[in-house]
Amino acid sequence: MRMLLILLAGMLVGALIAFSAANALHQRSAWPRGVMNVLQHHLGELRSLQRRNDCTPARTALHFQRLAQTGADIGPAFADEKPDFHDQARRFVDASSRLGAEAPTSCQALDEALRQTGDACESCHLRYR
Ligand code: HEC
Repeated sequence: MRMLLILLAGMLVGALIAFSAANALHQRSAWPRGVMNVLQHHLGELRSLQRRNDCTPARTALHFQRLAQTGADIGPAFADEKPDFHDQARRFVDASSRLGAEAPTSCQALDEALRQTGDACESCHLRYR
């Protein structure tokens, strides 16, 4: 009986430690995941504007600006990544800022801009994710 109680107490303590470790890991990655999910949101909005043939700069510029602003947090959010990771992040921000300042004026131009943006996401993911 006593052995059983000790065993149960050990299992309980083990479970608590595992739980708090998992929780700490989750908290730590909340910001980088948040940054990525905000990027995903604005890219999705741009794609849905394009699907609806609503490609005016008045509608799309905001989302490119948000991509640039949120992209500026990629570096700090992933502070311990390699230096060329930051180069890639900076290029993403520069390209998005340009599109935010001078958004495409036709659906065809938006199509090209979205392809480039999607490629920029993918090329970083292929290397670092
Ligand atoms: C400079 C590098 C870089 C760029 C640019 C980048 N990402 Fe990421 N992304 C990452 C890394 C690294 C991860 C893996 C994060 C992890 O698992 O901790 C990631 C993960 C993600 C995830 C999964 C998040 C989660 O909840 O686990 C999504 C969604 C995402 N990125 C979307 C995007 C979109 C959309 C773009 C472009 C608009 C983009 N990313 C551009 C580096 C980048």
